[in-house]
Amino acid sequence: MRLDRLISNYPQYSHRSARQLIASGRVQVNGHIVRDTQATVDRFAAVSIDEQPLRNGYASLYLMLHKPVGYLSATSDHTHPTVLDLLEPELCEQVHIGGRLDRSSSGLLLLTNDGLWSRRVTEPQIKTPKVYHVRTAEPIRDEDAARFAEGIHFAFEGLTTSPAQLQRLDRCEAQVTIYEGRYHQIKRMFHAVGNRVTALHRVSMGSILLDPILEAGEYRSLTQAEVASV
Ligand code: URA
Repeated sequence: MRLDRLISNYPQYSHRSARQLIASGRVQVNGHIVRDTQATVDRFAAVSIDEQPLRNGYASLYLMLHKPVGYLSATSDHTHPTVLDLLEPELCEQVHIGGRLDRSSSGLLLLTNDGLWSRRVTEPQIKTPKVYHVRTAEPIRDEDAARFAEGIHFAFEGLTTSPAQLQRLDRCEAQVTIYEGRYHQIKRMFHAVGNRVTALHRVSMGSILLDPILEAGEYRSLTQAEVASV
């Protein structure tokens, strides 16, 4: 939001006095003087006037969770447990999910309270590679890789998926890399080539890999390098 509006939301400051304070160099954002009366700040920004804190701002949170099978990627549900049930209660109220997984899928799930950051992870135009380990009911054929690379037409949405990589690891096991996150995308891609996914596990998103020390249901904060990689 605009810094001058944020300041004038406090009853002691009018909009005019907020602009004057900014222009005269008396306002600091995250410890730095800001003189631009058009400046905008996010909700994480700490704002002070004459070095007296006006607002502390929110601490930003970035978590990776090893999602177990059976949990919904949702904030609440009447029937099934959700991934937020796996977090400390004080974290649940703050975070949202950056890139969902189906209830029957497992693996890397990112949670944050930073909406701009999670948008960068999920924005289809940014084409973040998402890598999955897949098990199928039927043997995977050589020609399936070519179909995935061409893109699969989803008639319901009237679109063709972006080129994806399918690398067979075993008769009924593969690593699949996709660059978008359409509804049930991998399951529907296998369905389109006459196969059925029996297990789906997300290994990585961009350069963030699911930490092998995390058991299903466990989570940890992202490192600074992981946050910055997005
Ligand atoms: N594709 C799917 O079909 N399901 C997921 O959970 C993720 C990708």
